[in-house]
Amino acid sequence: MSPETVTLRPATVADAPLLTAWDRQPHVIACSSDDPDAEVAFDGIDWADELSNSDYELTYLIAEVAGEPVGVMAVCDPHTEPSHYWGEIEPDLQAIDVWIGPPEWLNRGVGTQMMAQMLDRCFAQPQVKAVVIDPLNSNVAAHRFYRRLGFRDEGRRMFGDDDCLVMRLERDAWEGRA
Ligand SMILES: CC(C)(COP(=O)(O)OP(=O)(O)OC[C@H]1O[C@@H](n2cnc3c(N)ncnc32)[C@H](O)[C@@H]1OP(=O)(O)O)[C@@H](O)C(=O)NCCC(=O)NCCS
Repeated sequence: MSPETVTLRPATVADAPLLTAWDRQPHVIACSSDDPDAEVAFDGIDWADELSNSDYELTYLIAEVAGEPVGVMAVCDPHTEPSHYWGEIEPDLQAIDVWIGPPEWLNRGVGTQMMAQMLDRCFAQPQVKAVVIDPLNSNVAAHRFYRRLGFRDEGRRMFGDDDCLVMRLERDAWEGRA
Protein backbone atom coordinates (compact mmCIF):
# COMPACT_ATOMS: atom_id res chain seq x y z
CA MET A 1 0.00 0.00 0.00
CA SER A 2 1.44 3.41 -0.86
CA PRO A 3 1.81 5.65 2.20
CA GLU A 4 -0.61 8.52 2.77
CA THR A 5 0.94 11.99 2.61
CA VAL A 6 1.35 13.40 6.10
CA THR A 7 1.69 17.07 6.97
CA LEU A 8 2.63 18.50 10.36
CA ARG A 9 1.14 21.68 11.81
CA PRO A 10 1.49 23.31 15.24
CA ALA A 11 -1.10 22.14 17.76
CA THR A 12 -3.30 24.85 19.28
CA VAL A 13 -5.62 24.94 22.27
CA ALA A 14 -8.44 24.18 19.81
CA ASP A 15 -6.95 20.67 19.51
CA ALA A 16 -7.49 19.96 23.23
CA PRO A 17 -10.84 18.11 22.81
CA LEU A 18 -9.32 15.93 20.07
CA LEU A 19 -6.32 14.97 22.18
CA THR A 20 -8.56 14.36 25.20
CA ALA A 21 -10.66 11.96 23.10
CA TRP A 22 -7.55 10.17 21.77
CA ASP A 23 -6.42 9.63 25.40
CA ARG A 24 -9.35 7.18 25.76
CA GLN A 25 -8.06 4.94 22.94
CA PRO A 26 -6.68 1.62 24.24
CA HIS A 27 -3.48 1.85 22.15
CA VAL A 28 -2.78 5.35 23.53
CA ILE A 29 -3.46 4.23 27.12
CA ALA A 30 -1.18 1.22 26.60
CA CYS A 31 1.75 3.35 25.42
CA SER A 32 1.49 5.68 28.42
CA SER A 33 1.18 3.19 31.31
CA ASP A 34 1.64 -0.47 32.21
CA ASP A 35 -1.32 -0.18 34.61
CA PRO A 36 -3.92 -2.66 33.24
CA ASP A 37 -6.68 -0.70 34.99
CA ALA A 38 -5.81 2.69 33.47
CA GLU A 39 -8.83 4.17 31.71
CA VAL A 40 -7.15 7.27 30.31
CA ALA A 41 -3.67 7.99 28.97
CA PHE A 42 -1.09 10.29 30.55
CA ASP A 43 -2.90 10.35 33.92
CA GLY A 44 -5.72 12.42 32.44
CA ILE A 45 -3.53 15.33 31.31
CA ASP A 46 -5.30 18.71 30.93
CA TRP A 47 -4.64 19.34 27.23
CA ALA A 48 -6.02 22.90 27.24
CA ASP A 49 -3.44 23.80 29.90
CA GLU A 50 -0.69 21.79 28.24
CA LEU A 51 -1.22 23.43 24.84
CA SER A 52 -1.65 27.00 26.10
CA ASN A 53 1.15 27.24 28.70
CA SER A 54 4.35 28.23 26.93
CA ASP A 55 6.32 27.80 30.20
CA TYR A 56 6.30 24.02 29.61
CA GLU A 57 8.64 24.45 26.61
CA LEU A 58 7.22 21.41 24.83
CA THR A 59 6.25 21.90 21.21
CA TYR A 60 3.24 19.88 20.04
CA LEU A 61 2.53 19.16 16.40
CA ILE A 62 -0.57 17.58 14.84
CA ALA A 63 -0.13 15.24 11.88
CA GLU A 64 -2.82 15.39 9.22
CA VAL A 65 -3.69 13.34 6.15
CA ALA A 66 -5.86 15.26 3.69
CA GLY A 67 -6.86 17.66 6.47
CA GLU A 68 -7.82 14.91 8.94
CA PRO A 69 -5.87 14.90 12.23
CA VAL A 70 -4.29 11.44 12.62
CA GLY A 71 -1.51 11.80 15.17
CA VAL A 72 0.45 14.02 17.50
CA MET A 73 4.08 14.61 18.38
CA ALA A 74 5.81 16.43 21.19
CA VAL A 75 9.38 17.65 21.02
CA CYS A 76 11.60 19.39 23.54
CA ASP A 77 15.18 20.00 24.56
CA PRO A 78 15.43 17.55 27.49
CA HIS A 79 18.33 19.50 29.04
CA THR A 80 16.38 22.75 29.41
CA GLU A 81 12.77 21.45 29.64
CA PRO A 82 11.59 22.98 32.95
CA SER A 83 10.05 19.86 34.56
CA HIS A 84 13.44 18.09 34.13
CA TYR A 85 11.59 14.93 33.21
CA TRP A 86 14.85 13.47 31.84
CA GLY A 87 16.87 14.39 34.95
CA GLU A 88 20.59 14.98 34.39
CA ILE A 89 21.07 14.85 30.62
CA GLU A 90 23.60 16.44 28.30
CA PRO A 91 22.73 19.53 26.22
CA ASP A 92 22.19 19.57 22.44
CA LEU A 93 19.65 16.75 22.27
CA GLN A 94 15.99 16.64 21.34
CA ALA A 95 13.41 14.33 22.94
CA ILE A 96 10.35 13.20 20.99
CA ASP A 97 7.00 11.57 21.79
CA VAL A 98 4.67 10.30 19.07
CA TRP A 99 1.32 8.60 18.88
CA ILE A 100 -1.40 7.94 16.35
CA GLY A 101 -4.90 8.93 17.53
CA PRO A 102 -7.61 7.10 15.56
CA PRO A 103 -6.87 3.34 15.63
CA GLU A 104 -7.80 2.98 11.96
CA TRP A 105 -4.69 5.04 11.15
CA LEU A 106 -2.27 2.63 12.86
CA ASN A 107 0.11 0.62 10.72
CA ARG A 108 -0.38 2.61 7.52
CA GLY A 109 3.01 4.29 7.40
CA VAL A 110 1.84 7.53 9.02
CA GLY A 111 4.07 7.18 12.10
CA THR A 112 7.14 6.59 9.94
CA GLN A 113 6.44 9.75 7.94
CA MET A 114 5.78 11.75 11.11
CA MET A 115 9.08 10.65 12.61
CA ALA A 116 11.03 11.24 9.38
CA GLN A 117 9.71 14.80 9.12
CA MET A 118 10.38 15.50 12.79
CA LEU A 119 13.89 14.03 12.65
CA ASP A 120 14.69 16.22 9.64
CA ARG A 121 13.47 19.24 11.64
CA CYS A 122 15.52 18.24 14.69
CA PHE A 123 18.75 17.71 12.77
CA ALA A 124 18.22 20.91 10.74
CA GLN A 125 19.35 22.61 13.99
CA PRO A 126 23.14 22.36 13.68
CA GLN A 127 23.78 21.99 17.41
CA VAL A 128 21.55 18.91 17.76
CA LYS A 129 23.72 15.80 18.20
CA ALA A 130 21.09 13.14 18.76
CA VAL A 131 17.42 12.45 19.47
CA VAL A 132 16.20 10.44 22.46
CA ILE A 133 12.93 8.65 23.14
CA ASP A 134 11.58 6.69 26.11
CA PRO A 135 8.99 4.08 25.11
CA LEU A 136 7.73 1.77 27.85
CA ASN A 137 9.93 -1.30 28.08
CA SER A 138 6.78 -3.33 27.41
CA ASN A 139 6.06 -1.51 24.12
CA VAL A 140 8.03 -3.90 21.91
CA ALA A 141 6.13 -2.92 18.75
CA ALA A 142 7.29 0.68 19.24
CA HIS A 143 10.88 -0.51 19.83
CA ARG A 144 10.81 -2.27 16.41
CA PHE A 145 9.37 0.86 14.83
CA TYR A 146 12.13 3.07 16.31
CA ARG A 147 14.94 0.61 15.49
CA ARG A 148 13.84 0.66 11.85
CA LEU A 149 14.37 4.46 11.93
CA GLY A 150 17.92 3.96 13.25
CA PHE A 151 17.39 4.34 17.00
CA ARG A 152 19.61 2.16 19.21
CA ASP A 153 18.90 0.93 22.74
CA GLU A 154 20.58 2.92 25.50
CA GLY A 155 19.15 0.92 28.38
CA ARG A 156 16.24 0.51 30.72
CA ARG A 157 15.37 3.35 33.03
CA MET A 158 12.57 4.18 35.47
CA PHE A 159 10.81 7.51 34.90
CA GLY A 160 8.67 7.78 38.03
CA ASP A 161 6.63 4.56 38.03
CA ASP A 162 7.23 3.95 34.32
CA ASP A 163 9.66 1.20 33.29
CA CYS A 164 11.08 2.55 30.02
CA LEU A 165 13.67 1.72 27.40
CA VAL A 166 15.72 4.78 26.48
CA MET A 167 16.60 4.79 22.77
CA ARG A 168 18.83 7.20 20.92
CA LEU A 169 19.39 8.20 17.27
CA GLU A 170 22.72 9.84 16.46
CA ARG A 171 22.96 12.55 13.79
CA ASP A 172 25.37 10.42 11.72
CA ALA A 173 22.96 7.48 11.70
CA TRP A 174 20.09 9.67 10.46
CA GLU A 175 22.11 11.55 7.86
CA GLY A 176 23.80 8.35 6.62
CA ARG A 177 20.66 6.22 6.36
CA ALA A 178 20.07 4.33 3.13
C1 LIG B 1 4.33 3.65 17.26
C2 LIG B 1 3.43 4.34 16.22
C3 LIG B 1 3.55 5.86 16.38
C4 LIG B 1 3.90 3.92 14.84
O1 LIG B 1 3.06 4.57 13.91
P1 LIG B 1 2.35 3.72 12.73
O2 LIG B 1 1.79 4.69 11.77
O3 LIG B 1 1.43 2.71 13.32
O4 LIG B 1 3.64 2.98 12.17
P2 LIG B 1 3.97 2.62 10.67
O5 LIG B 1 2.74 2.18 9.96
O6 LIG B 1 4.78 3.71 10.07
O7 LIG B 1 4.91 1.39 10.99
C5 LIG B 1 4.28 0.22 11.50
C6 LIG B 1 5.02 -0.30 12.68
O8 LIG B 1 4.64 0.36 13.89
C7 LIG B 1 4.39 -0.64 14.89
N1 LIG B 1 3.47 -0.31 15.96
C8 LIG B 1 3.86 0.19 17.15
N2 LIG B 1 2.84 0.32 17.98
C9 LIG B 1 1.73 -0.13 17.34
C10 LIG B 1 0.35 -0.26 17.69
N3 LIG B 1 -0.09 0.07 18.92
N4 LIG B 1 -0.51 -0.70 16.75
C11 LIG B 1 -0.09 -1.04 15.54
N5 LIG B 1 1.22 -0.95 15.15
C12 LIG B 1 2.12 -0.50 16.04
C13 LIG B 1 3.88 -1.82 14.11
O9 LIG B 1 4.14 -2.96 14.91
C14 LIG B 1 4.68 -1.78 12.85
O10 LIG B 1 5.89 -2.45 13.03
P3 LIG B 1 6.03 -3.97 12.54
O11 LIG B 1 5.78 -3.95 11.06
O12 LIG B 1 7.43 -4.32 12.90
O13 LIG B 1 5.00 -4.75 13.28
C15 LIG B 1 1.95 3.93 16.35
O14 LIG B 1 1.84 2.55 16.11
C16 LIG B 1 1.32 4.27 17.67
O15 LIG B 1 0.81 5.37 17.83
N6 LIG B 1 1.32 3.33 18.58
C17 LIG B 1 0.69 3.53 19.87
C18 LIG B 1 1.38 4.63 20.63
C19 LIG B 1 2.84 4.33 20.82
O16 LIG B 1 3.22 3.22 21.11
N7 LIG B 1 3.65 5.39 20.67
C20 LIG B 1 5.05 5.32 20.95
C21 LIG B 1 5.23 5.63 22.38
S1 LIG B 1 6.92 5.93 22.73
